[in-house]
Amino acid sequence: MQLKSFAHAFVLIAAGYQAVDAAPAAAGLKIGHHTTIIHGKMTTLGHHHKTKTGPTKTHAPVGPAPTSAPPPPANPSVPASCHLTKYSKSAVAAAVSSCSNIILDGLQVTGGETLDLSKLKAGANVLFRGTTTFEHANWQGPLVVVSGSDITVDGTGATLDGQGALYWDGKGSNGGVTKPKFFALHYATRAKVTNVRLLNSPVQAFSINGCTDCQIINPTHDNAAGDNAGGHNTDSMDIGASSNVIVSGAKFHSQDDCVAVNSGVGITFTGGSCIGGHGLSIGSVGKADSTAKNTVKNVVFADSTVANSQNGLRIKTIAGGTGSVSGITYRNIKLNNISNFGITIQQDYRNGGPTGKPTTGVPISGVLLENVSGDVTSGAAQVNVLCGSSTSCSGFAFKNVALTGGAPKENCSKFVSVCAAL
Ligand SMILES: *[C@@H]1O[C@H](CO)[C@@H](O)[C@H](O)[C@H]1NC(C)=O
Ligand SMILES: *[C@@H]1O[C@H](CO)[C@@H](O)[C@H](O)[C@H]1NC(C)=O
Ligand SMILES: *[C@@H]1O[C@H](CO)[C@@H](O)[C@H](O)[C@H]1NC(C)=O
Repeated sequence: MQLKSFAHAFVLIAAGYQAVDAAPAAAGLKIGHHTTIIHGKMTTLGHHHKTKTGPTKTHAPVGPAPTSAPPPPANPSVPASCHLTKYSKSAVAAAVSSCSNIILDGLQVTGGETLDLSKLKAGANVLFRGTTTFEHANWQGPLVVVSGSDITVDGTGATLDGQGALYWDGKGSNGGVTKPKFFALHYATRAKVTNVRLLNSPVQAFSINGCTDCQIINPTHDNAAGDNAGGHNTDSMDIGASSNVIVSGAKFHSQDDCVAVNSGVGITFTGGSCIGGHGLSIGSVGKADSTAKNTVKNVVFADSTVANSQNGLRIKTIAGGTGSVSGITYRNIKLNNISNFGITIQQDYRNGGPTGKPTTGVPISGVLLENVSGDVTSGAAQVNVLCGSSTSCSGFAFKNVALTGGAPKENCSKFVSVCAAL
């Protein structure tokens, strides 16, 4: 069942890849170079692409799961030293330092070592093929780090397997065994990461940090297996200290935040699907080590769904913290089966449970919710807004927000006029 639905998702992802690629101007960002690798890859996807235009597309045979698909032919323009089929730290380092086109083909990465793509040449292209497996080791990770300028990473049809089940103990990053973080895109500029699929992260999956003008297109985080098996703090994507980042077409199933924007400016998350987890989040904001890391500005979540999750939309600032949150838009969001709060905005966050006493050091200003619909469970509340003062929450607007089920509200701050209507 699971495999089937992911095979289906793969077809959609493959089609989405081309659709997004065809409209770079709309994204307002420079699109990475189109190399022979990418063209070779596109050719292999031609079959899926064709099905997109014909009326028979949705009924066309889906074919085998991506992991068992035959590998695309090797690109003859990539020398053997740039096409790795066996992992070693030194071989990866050599390829990274000398190759503009790198193929990582079914690698088994040694436990306790990072697949280190942090020193990619400017304009380099990395292609994952087959299944990359990360051997078990109790360490911090990350399992993969990517960094550079004008780089592309393409994971179409490939899987990166973190073997989460070997770590899950219900304690996540708050205790238990040490668990590696998974995929870091750090200090990248004009990076384009397409169709990267992370399977079973030990803890947090994608980390986007220190990035400028980056696009993450059709990322997948499949941690469904962790739902009843001790997966915890398995955030699908955490974004921090970044500017002008677009995440489109995400398919995330986790046991913590679907997306958490902890700091940064100009972050867009669109066309995403969140299952399990804690919802589309800002924060928690307020306890980082610098002002920049306690500032979140101009974030849009649009055209997305959140299902079977604790929360739908969530803004959390830390009790006693300092910083600011401004210009947050949630538009065209569909919620389903939300067990805690459909919408929660809280200035009393604390890891392990809210204090119940909101503070004012992280003002939240300019929050627009537009066209948000769906249902919460009978024990849940549709809205919870806990603000410290009339100035710490300002400029809130709810337009066409229509949720059903549960209680209409738990707390809704006397300082926020939208609460009066609920
Ligand atoms: C609702 O979500 C919970 C997880 O919060 C899940 O266990 C349950 O199966 C979901 N119910 C339906 C009908 O999908
Ligand atoms: C409202 O959001 C839903 C998705 O939840 C979308 O299908 C619909 O088109 C949106 N309505 C408008 C008027 O944009
Ligand atoms: C709602 O308010 C009550 C009373 O102040 C408080 O005890 C409770 O923790 C609040 N709930 C949430 C979810 O903030």
